[in-house]
Amino acid sequence: MKLAGKLVAITGASSGIGKAAALAFAREGARLALCARSEGALREVAEIAKALGAPSAIWRACDVTRDEDVRAFAAACGPQVDVLVANAGVGQYGEFLDTPMEDVERVLETNLTGVLRCAHAFGPALVAAQGHVLVVGSQAGKTPVPLSSVYAASKWALTGWTRSARPELESRGVALTLFSPGGVDTAFRERRLAAPGTGGDARARVPGSQSVDRVVAALVDAARRRPREVDPSLVGAVGRAANALAPHAAARAMLKARARRR
Ligand SMILES: NC(=O)c1ccc[n+]([C@@H]2O[C@H](COP(=O)([O-])OP(=O)(O)OC[C@H]3O[C@@H](n4cnc5c(N)ncnc54)[C@H](OP(=O)(O)O)[C@@H]3O)[C@@H](O)[C@H]2O)c1
Repeated sequence: MKLAGKLVAITGASSGIGKAAALAFAREGARLALCARSEGALREVAEIAKALGAPSAIWRACDVTRDEDVRAFAAACGPQVDVLVANAGVGQYGEFLDTPMEDVERVLETNLTGVLRCAHAFGPALVAAQGHVLVVGSQAGKTPVPLSSVYAASKWALTGWTRSARPELESRGVALTLFSPGGVDTAFRERRLAAPGTGGDARARVPGSQSVDRVVAALVDAARRRPREVDPSLVGAVGRAANALAPHAAARAMLKARARRR
């Protein structure tokens, strides 16, 4: 599918994958609607996007954990939306028993309910355009990730939701892609919610992590082709295979490796 002239709405467009995606869709000539909580950063992304070729780029400050914000963002996008990139997310690090319940709730409200809330609010506009929802999941939604169990729970839930809701949406003409990166070089780990006394060297590079440009090229390709699932990381494929063969041993090995990198 050609992206020029299509309306692409992106959540979490103020930094990282969402920002790079906005600029990549702009180069394709797509019209953009951007949201996140940081107004200044969003305004800047919208200006750069227009300079790169987006015919229009609206932006709204929006917290995906708030119904009224999401509904207002969807209303600002108009009656037809071609692509919704449900990307906004927050990381979590530390042992589950040391993680405050307010962090547990924030991770689930942002990464899981936030995505469902957006898909729900944009539903009529996506049906009207026979559009496409691109959910940014994670390899943490396909393999166990000790020391990020709440984050993993949010992303596994997205895997379950997309696989279950897809036939429903497809029967109304809306495509649904689960896009699940492995590690990506963004500020994500520096911004994650860390349990008290943990967090360690969040700037240390995750082995095998990919550049944001490479990941976003795969995301834009998914917007053109509308595949059901995309797993852009080779390291992720190894993790999925190890988990399928020996899930408990794989999880224990992962705990040791992650504890060393703390
Ligand atoms: N980086 C990785 O290694 C990696 C790997 C796999 C999957 N992912 C997924 O990729 C997505 C983007 O992450 P990233 O790497 O680009 O990290 P990032 O640079 O921290 O970007 C996260 C984005 O989400 C927005 N956001 C967070 N909470 C929000 C809320 N309540 N309401 C609205 N927007 C919110 C942030 O904007 P504001 O703070 O301005 O609101 C920001 O634009 C996430 O879903 C993440 O789980 C990342």
